[in-house]
Amino acid sequence: MQPVKIGLLGLGTVGGGTVNVLSRNALEITRRAGRGIEVARAFTRSPGKRRICPTEGIELVTDPWQVVEDPEIAIVVELIGGTSPALELVMRAIELGKHVVTANKALIALHGNEIFAKASEKGVMVAFEAAVAGGIPIIKVLREALAGNRIEWIAGIINGTGNFILSEMRDQGREFSDVLEEAQRLGYAEADPTFDVEGIDAAHKLTILAAIAFGIPLRFDQVYTEGITRITPEDVRYAEELGYRIKHLGIARRSGQGVELRVHPCLIPARRLLANVDGVMNAVVVRGDAVGPTLYYGPGAGAEPTASAVVADLVDVVRVMTADPENRVPHLAFQPDALSDLPLLPVGEIETAYYLRLSVADEPGVLADVARILADHGISIEAVIQKEGQAGQTAVPLIFLTHKVKESKLDEAASRIEAMPAVKAPIHRIRLETLE
Ligand code: NDP
Ligand code: HSE
Repeated sequence: MQPVKIGLLGLGTVGGGTVNVLSRNALEITRRAGRGIEVARAFTRSPGKRRICPTEGIELVTDPWQVVEDPEIAIVVELIGGTSPALELVMRAIELGKHVVTANKALIALHGNEIFAKASEKGVMVAFEAAVAGGIPIIKVLREALAGNRIEWIAGIINGTGNFILSEMRDQGREFSDVLEEAQRLGYAEADPTFDVEGIDAAHKLTILAAIAFGIPLRFDQVYTEGITRITPEDVRYAEELGYRIKHLGIARRSGQGVELRVHPCLIPARRLLANVDGVMNAVVVRGDAVGPTLYYGPGAGAEPTASAVVADLVDVVRVMTADPENRVPHLAFQPDALSDLPLLPVGEIETAYYLRLSVADEPGVLADVARILADHGISIEAVIQKEGQAGQTAVPLIFLTHKVKESKLDEAASRIEAMPAVKAPIHRIRLETLE
């Protein structure tokens, strides 16, 4: 049988990795897919640039429409990133009846609903395993392997760059900006790295995971998002003293009232496996009602780990290209007419425990006053540490761990505490999850 011709939109880190994996493992891939997969054309803005892959045998074009409009190309692989021109190119490919593989989480999180509707209308597949957690096959797990479960919650480290930065800062005492530069050099970071460090990339990924886990539409605009830029070395140290690690997590949880979707730094007990996931590695815990908690671990970014997911999607698409569209695995796991519109909870309704770091005047009664305000708001304290003041400093750090509290209650208590004359700076808060 003739090989399937594919076209690459983008020949950077992931595009280059994909060419390398397809060529190195061509024989195995053909044996799995039933047909060879041939990169016929690839779009790049700069054909003369040095790349991580050979380009012999691939027609390089500087106009992406020459890939999409090529009648010989059956599968378009979008590896440009962002939403424009990626969205226009993908929609046109679908319109022309081509299947699409993409690693672009921003595209799926923001425009997936319209992309999948169009793909269903045209009977084509849009596969996006590489969009979440790099090389970890978490989309397939949620969509297929756990299909018998009611998913209760998901918690994951889903941004490799952010985890790499936090790990290097903690273990090597390196500066934030220095580690970020290294992540960019290694090809881990997004074109705009604020997406990594401000939690936007993780929020894109969480949007996708939640849709597939709970059978809800993609709703990126309703994810509560905080990044890692405000984490200080002293918070990292105090957390360790209390037996916790700070990780940047994406959490999706279904409760009686609706669904929580949140991305933020979080203290987690140091003994949890997730607390020990370091560097560019990602990990996702999924709790299903039948299977219980399951953990998926692997590289969250990088050329070949991501290419591993892109190529797996290509093999999937080639295997089922000729199958009746009605009998394929639905894009978002649930049948399109069976999506539910569970309400998404505002962040004030979310309950978590908290790490609170206060900077207070070193004088008697302050600890008792803060504890009283917390008690007035029904917030119970799990642990307190009061640190010695440094010579010449009038304020000392006072750290509390609380039990679970509704966020709106904590906001009220925090406003009262911050109004105390003895409290010298806004409270530094980080949520805490035991992940039990
Ligand atoms: P790169 O920046 O390495 O490559 C992007 C490619 O797209 C390059 O070929 C570039 O052209 C081209 N390109 C970039 N911007 C534009 C634009 N505005 N218009 C037209 N072409 C453009 O990106 P990555 O390979 O790292 O990422 C590609 C996609 O994969 C993104 O969606 C990213 O989020 C996702 N992803 C990346 C991972 C990683 O580890 N890097 C992991 C998982 C997903 P030129 O060749 O001329 O530079
Ligand atoms: N910038 C992303 C990360 C790439 O660091 O996780 C993988 O999606």
